[in-house]
Amino acid sequence: MCINFCCSHFSHFMQGLLIGLSQYSCVFNSSFTLIHNCKKTDSGACGLQFSRHEAGVTHVLVTGGAGYIGSHASLRLLKDNYRVTIVDNLSRGNKGAVKVLQELFPEPGRLQFIYADLGDQKSVNKIFAENAFDAVMHFAAVAYVGESTLEPLRYYHNITSNTLLILEAMASHGVKTLIYSSTCATYGEPEKMPIIETTPQFPINPYGKAKKMAEDIILDFSKRTDMAVMILRYFNVIGSDPEGRLGEAPRPELREHGRISGACFDAALGILPGLKVLFSCILIATGSLYSLVYGCISSCRINITLMLFLMK
Ligand SMILES: NC(=O)c1ccc[n+]([C@@H]2O[C@H](COP(=O)([O-])OP(=O)(O)OC[C@H]3O[C@@H](n4cnc5c(N)ncnc54)[C@H](O)[C@@H]3O)[C@@H](O)[C@H]2O)c1
Repeated sequence: MCINFCCSHFSHFMQGLLIGLSQYSCVFNSSFTLIHNCKKTDSGACGLQFSRHEAGVTHVLVTGGAGYIGSHASLRLLKDNYRVTIVDNLSRGNKGAVKVLQELFPEPGRLQFIYADLGDQKSVNKIFAENAFDAVMHFAAVAYVGESTLEPLRYYHNITSNTLLILEAMASHGVKTLIYSSTCATYGEPEKMPIIETTPQFPINPYGKAKKMAEDIILDFSKRTDMAVMILRYFNVIGSDPEGRLGEAPRPELREHGRISGACFDAALGILPGLKVLFSCILIATGSLYSLVYGCISSCRINITLMLFLMK
């Protein structure tokens, strides 16, 4: 099943921006690092909690959990008492977001962070072999349209090929629930608006094409197996944790590749003189934002609700 995610909501924009920017750091070097939330003395027991299924506990693998949407989804999952494993290579996300989550949920067996690259098949298999996952939320991706036109192979590897590796690992280790983060870029330039789930998908850039291919692989595979999958096609997700603990932290070097959120940040920071909106839009209550952006918090709630639906 595929769902277009459209929900006008914009919260704590500047607050999230400031928190996000202050979290910028990335210091991991090894190819696979495991960080549990437990003291050195009880790390054995702590690791065991992640490696065994436990009655009444749902263990979710969140790929890209150090990134913008993934970190908010992890926060929501943890708040709702899920066990969470974040896998991220910190190429785009930030360690500060993981630190915030670790501080909020320090109890053993709640959250572990694995620094790994999802393009490394050996690491992916090891992660699945050593952990008992019940479901996967696959957010990890490079996700800039402009960059994808400059580095198409990187996008096909990172998005399409890595999704294939994850699916194979899920299949080999009996993980039967997948929520996949896709994008409105899979629609290209539709002839008819508004875009709905059944709008034909004709992506026009490598980012959209790589995601569309990943979608096709997932859907083809799910037809032949008992894996329950849900594909969400986000439009422009924006907003942050209402309590200001997490936010989006776009890297300055990616600014030129353009996301609406980045343009909003630049306008708010005075780097751009303002925002020009090229098509009709509706000002929402605060008068400062546009209906062409969609709420991150709502998006995370939707991810979890759908996962519960699939697991029934
Ligand atoms: N933000 C949006 O408006 C938007 C819109 C449409 C779709 N999406 C999709 O949602 C997902 C999350 O987007 P986001 O805005 O949170 O992006 P983000 O860049 O903030 O987060 C992506 C995370 O994935 C990690 N990652 C990338 N490649 C990896 C790899 N090979 N191995 C391990 N980790 C890796 C990055 O380090 C980063 O932490 C993406 O799949 C994106 O395509 C986002």
